[in-house]
Amino acid sequence: MNLTFLIPSQTIKSDTKKTVKSVVGGQERVDVLSRCLLNLSRWNRRLNSEINFILYLSSPDEQQAFIIPISSLELELKSEVDSTQELIKILSKPEESGVSKENISFINLIQKLSKDSKLYYLTPDGLEVSELQIKNNQKEKACFVLGSQYDLIEEQEALLSKMGATRISIGKRNYLASHVVTIVCHHLFLRK
Ligand SMILES: C[S@@+](CC[C@H](N)C(=O)[O-])C[C@H]1O[C@@H](n2cnc3c(N)ncnc32)[C@H](O)[C@@H]1O
Repeated sequence: MNLTFLIPSQTIKSDTKKTVKSVVGGQERVDVLSRCLLNLSRWNRRLNSEINFILYLSSPDEQQAFIIPISSLELELKSEVDSTQELIKILSKPEESGVSKENISFINLIQKLSKDSKLYYLTPDGLEVSELQIKNNQKEKACFVLGSQYDLIEEQEALLSKMGATRISIGKRNYLASHVVTIVCHHLFLRK
């Protein structure tokens, strides 16, 4: 199975100076995405699957996607400090981490992904995740879209619904994005 997690962020900027200290202190809420990166790298090590993480900077002056094939990261991320350092490096010098950066609108990105992946949108009022059936074989490609510290904006949600994304829920409460990716991976790979 080839899995992609796409998370748009309205607050992260590509060209501001960031340090581990400023990020753990909440700068632009890069910390939310750094925890997602850490969890996905742990899942990638555990599983025989390809996991991609797409961080989409969605503010009007950014509109760019950082496409991160988790297995291309050289360092084993062991802690939040490691993932924060890695994400700061990815944002400033993506090519050094095997990451591709693309200037692209959210609409074009979703249209591109929908060509070869089935789209899922994570939201508390979707279909129960336990009902999700994705075959664990090399042909299957799934792309899960979720919010960061904020939910997706209305236009993004409307686009996903227009593109036929299936709404998936992990429960009625609001969970942190990093917990959402972990629960989805757990469901897909470890459920009995
Ligand atoms: C931290 S939440 C976003 C903000 C949050 N909705 C709030 O009210 O502050 C991060 C994202 O995880 C996903 N998510 C959170 N809880 C979920 C749930 N129970 N089921 C499915 N997805 C969920 C949604 O895509 C959400 O935008």
